[in-house]
Amino acid sequence: MRTLIKYLLASTEARENVLVKGWVRTRRDSKGFSFLELNDGSCLANLQVVVDSSAQGFADIAHFITGASAVVAGRLVASPAAGQKWEMQATRVELVGPADASYPLQKKGHSLEYLRTIAHLRPRSNLFGAVFRTRSRLAHAVHQFFQERDFVYVHTPIITASDCEGAGEMFRVTALKGDPDQNPAADFFGRRTFLTVSGQLEAEVFACALSNVYTFGPTFRAENSNTARHAAEFWMIEPEMAFCDLPGDMDLAEDFVKAMARYTLEHCVEDLGLFGKFVDKGVQERLRFVVDRPFHRVPYTEAIDILKKSGRTFDYPVEYGLNLQSEHERFLTEEHCKSPVTVFNYPREIKPFYMRVNDDGKTVTAMDVLVPGIGEVIGGSQREERLDVLQENLRYHKLRPEDYWWYLDLRRYGTVPHAGFGLGFERLLMFLTGVANIRDVIPFARTPGSAEF
Ligand code: 4AD
Ligand code: MG
Repeated sequence: MRTLIKYLLASTEARENVLVKGWVRTRRDSKGFSFLELNDGSCLANLQVVVDSSAQGFADIAHFITGASAVVAGRLVASPAAGQKWEMQATRVELVGPADASYPLQKKGHSLEYLRTIAHLRPRSNLFGAVFRTRSRLAHAVHQFFQERDFVYVHTPIITASDCEGAGEMFRVTALKGDPDQNPAADFFGRRTFLTVSGQLEAEVFACALSNVYTFGPTFRAENSNTARHAAEFWMIEPEMAFCDLPGDMDLAEDFVKAMARYTLEHCVEDLGLFGKFVDKGVQERLRFVVDRPFHRVPYTEAIDILKKSGRTFDYPVEYGLNLQSEHERFLTEEHCKSPVTVFNYPREIKPFYMRVNDDGKTVTAMDVLVPGIGEVIGGSQREERLDVLQENLRYHKLRPEDYWWYLDLRRYGTVPHAGFGLGFERLLMFLTGVANIRDVIPFARTPGSAEF
């Protein structure tokens, strides 16, 4: 039976008859014996294996080179070497898959840009092993957070006919050979269809039946922005709560970000140590700060005032009625508040049709959570639950109410105040790990001009 290296390294006693399987990171030869550094991805650390001439397979040791896969049988013994408690003494080594000198991940450090060109091999590097273990653990933490609070997980569709965000940045789905717009009725679904930009509208359906729900799935946007925080395919978590207003929504959003920071500090200690050492020196301190301190809450109007009075020159204009750009968001969170900040009550004209109109008639109950280093990590709102106001909102945004008949029905039958938000999983991971580019926290990035792997 194979044992994962993480369990051997955490062992409390020496062990006989252990079997490990993994990839050779390096080999050093001495007179009559060799040291192998073996990694199986179960943890950051390698297991040091001492192979001497009495081990079965030793004659073959020259083939155990960086990148090769191997099986090692032997015993776990206390290591005399500094910095490691255990090492393995091999009784048998077996080469499973050879490698050669062309293996791209030789010991020297590689740039992130280069590693993106070998996305099929980069999970075998220390950094990407750490990133993708952390990603997996955080995905678990997301489910745990919502399941513990009695939220029901809903699988919303990937193919959709509605543009939730109304930004028109959707990928077309068609089975037609020629121009898909010529006769959409002849297409596979009998209408124009797209990859979803958000599961929110469908999540609202389920919230208006099961009370508290969440989605967690792939989301697609054809916005041609080649930035470090935009991907064409990303994963979004979207909770939706019936009988909830904007303050309740902000409470959940802030609790959620705090819980994810706490989970990372508690459950990703070894990998977080690597991020703190090589990626972002301040990452642990930042996470502790987020866990310990309350978020600021600032109305949009006040945020505009703060930016205007900042004395800064920004690339994009600051004016009531304009969207906050990344540079503005980062000023608010990094320099003005020096903490995560939730901006709320945005002007109606820059936000989607589904947001609840405030009593002033000018603003909507939108909220964005901004965090240092990233800017917007969460966007959400209370939803418009009044049928007549929602119909008027649709017309205001030049949308056809008949296209949203089922969404409007939720307001016809047992409507309730409800609210929710969307959190971009990759942006959260960037925040928690300090990794600066979204391409490096998703296994295979889809960005403009890039979908090779
Ligand atoms: O602010 P957004 O557009 O909000 C919605 O889609 C709402 N329907 C969510 C809801 O209320 N249920 O997107 C939500 C979050 C953003 O804050 C950001 O973190 C992430 O999704 N996001 C992206 N992440 C990576 N690449 C992109 N192109 C992204 N666009 C949005
Ligand atoms: Mg947004």
